[in-house]
Amino acid sequence: MLIDGIPKKAIESTNDYKIVIIDQTLLPHKLEYITLKNLNGCYKAIKDMWIRGAPLIGVTAAYGMFYAIKKNPSELNIRKAFDLLINTRPTAVDLRWALKKILNKILKFKAEDRATYAWQFSKELEINSIKQCSKIGDYGLEIIKSKIIKDKTFNILTHCNAGWLACVDWGTALAPIYKAYNLGLDIHVWVDETRPRSQGAALTAWELCKHGVPNTLIVDNAGGHLMQNGKVDMCIVGSDRTALNGDVCNKIGTYMKALCAYDNNIPFYVALPESTIDFNLDSGVNKIKIEERSNKEITHVSGLNSLGELSNVKIVSDLVASHNPGFDVTPARLVTKLITDKGICNANSKSISELFK
Ligand code: MRU
Repeated sequence: MLIDGIPKKAIESTNDYKIVIIDQTLLPHKLEYITLKNLNGCYKAIKDMWIRGAPLIGVTAAYGMFYAIKKNPSELNIRKAFDLLINTRPTAVDLRWALKKILNKILKFKAEDRATYAWQFSKELEINSIKQCSKIGDYGLEIIKSKIIKDKTFNILTHCNAGWLACVDWGTALAPIYKAYNLGLDIHVWVDETRPRSQGAALTAWELCKHGVPNTLIVDNAGGHLMQNGKVDMCIVGSDRTALNGDVCNKIGTYMKALCAYDNNIPFYVALPESTIDFNLDSGVNKIKIEERSNKEITHVSGLNSLGELSNVKIVSDLVASHNPGFDVTPARLVTKLITDKGICNANSKSISELFK
């Protein structure tokens, strides 16, 4: 998508086997790039959330495997890299999907051919992610077109960041929004700030503004009120892991938005590529390992101080205990449809299995 009119991607590989990412921990205040050249760099990028978002985590992990293999293509080393990377983030299934896929294939190659294959595989993953997200955008666009009313702004609410910053390009939930905007449709996005890490405020609002899409930032608790007052026409979010029955695990707070949407008869869509479906998981509620994040994400906030410097301040007393689950599961019954790269389906096993035979 565009940053001030210039096309950008969240990850770019170079011809000399480097990859360049945006340091997302600095957004929206600074746009800085980091070049990753080894396994440790990819590990840190995922673990410390320089990059985040399910599809982008998967692609970065694949490049991490490439660097490990380039250094030492032995099976022992490959398995060590696999173990290191798989434990970086527990909830997003794309990470496991990409790592298992590369591991299963790579060991069939002779040691000296493994690095070449790993680079090709990672590059394909990067390119395919763009194609998949673009497809999600096309399918989602048809839904928007079918609902939009002439001469009336169409209001879409989204949670967290499921835009191009979470993928390679386009995004999942934001892909239909970009396609609709690029087509000149009159849309507006309500952006949930998404406490505690503020992916909505820091990333979604930023990337929408940079591309030019009209949007307004709201606190996480405002969505229900807006829905009751006819200010939301549809909700669309991404997914970190989708179970076979259509239960959707996504950023903490998604479930509450889905409940509000259900109560107000507002369609609630989830956009995801095939790699986000966990085909080994029958249902999601109480079954998905939910990432537990640092208490500091709740007890402290960061931003620019009056001198324009990045600073981090404490907002609670030392006596306060806190608990910070990173994701929740929205039961399939609250999901109107899944918008995937293969098409649109109901959030149930029959429909998902038919689409992904
Ligand atoms: O903790 P994060 O920032 O990695 O969480 C990201 C999300 O929850 C996204 O909504 C999800 O990965 C879908 S991204 C296309």
